[in-house]
Amino acid sequence: MSRIFSGVQPTGDLHLGNYLGALRNWAALQNRYECIYCVVDLHAITQWQDPKELPANTREVTAGLIAAGLDSETNIIFNQSAVPAHAELAWIFNCVARLGWLNRMTQFKEKAGKNRENASVGLYAYPSLMAADILVYKATHVPVGEDQKQHLELTRDIAQKFNNDFGVEFFPMVEPLILGEATRVMSLRDGSSKMSKSDPSENSRINMTDDADTIARKLRRAKTDPEPLPETPAGLDGRPEARNLLGIYAALCDKTMEDVCREFAGAQFSRFKDSITELAVSVLAPIGGEMSRLTADPAYLDRVLARGAEQASEIAKPVLDDVYDIVGLLRPAP
Ligand code: TRP
Repeated sequence: MSRIFSGVQPTGDLHLGNYLGALRNWAALQNRYECIYCVVDLHAITQWQDPKELPANTREVTAGLIAAGLDSETNIIFNQSAVPAHAELAWIFNCVARLGWLNRMTQFKEKAGKNRENASVGLYAYPSLMAADILVYKATHVPVGEDQKQHLELTRDIAQKFNNDFGVEFFPMVEPLILGEATRVMSLRDGSSKMSKSDPSENSRINMTDDADTIARKLRRAKTDPEPLPETPAGLDGRPEARNLLGIYAALCDKTMEDVCREFAGAQFSRFKDSITELAVSVLAPIGGEMSRLTADPAYLDRVLARGAEQASEIAKPVLDDVYDIVGLLRPAP
């Protein structure tokens, strides 16, 4: 039986990259697999989060998941810190993972930047916690973007070493699920850098809560080049902005890049921009509206998260009990 697990950080301002790269794909998986989706607040605090904002950000991401189409009745949606088994298994994995493995993680190097001595120990151990997220449910498949593949390989290394060290066949080898076109949505101002909530320019990204006018304005200002659109995707080489916009269009309407190139072959950007604006508004504005409606009812979101945490705990508890047995940790008799 396949089980999906994935996580998203509650760091505020979900954008088009999160929607096309993650949330939308998660919604597409929900009727085919048992799915567990986690708002990873413990991962978020590996870098400073304002305690006054974190709860609202956690709820906003929860609203984003539901607004993107995830059914909270049939999927498990919860926040990581509400299920202590994640942190407990992460500690054990800290004792399985090797320093040499973590030293190779590119995300740590990027996030820690030049001042590595000043990064939190949690940021360094981030991949152990991520492995615990996945393996505490013995998940088999993890939908992630390209940038998380290295962490997923580390998860497999940890599972393998745990199994070897203790002579068990306990943890499964997880597989990444890399889905769809435009899994990598780039900045609207610079086609060579990823769309990111930390980009100082608001015009570089479309937020999931942007209204129709804002979406239209940002797309109108999106960087392009002077050439007409090519007949095939090969004609996009060396044109990162054009590739990004066509990729976004393709993802939003579930077409291939080939189809989109054929549709707009030889067209000027002005015509293409009218089309992408109309499409983006028709897909995103209703989602943004639903997010506002949901965030206006925090009690409802808290109920969704509480129920999800209860369901997640039920799956995680026997796995963690087995791990304690395997490792030889005594638990008080019931
Ligand atoms: N590291 C992931 C990201 O930044 C989030 C995440 C945490 C995750 N735990 C996970 C993703 C487990 C997949 C599975 O996008």
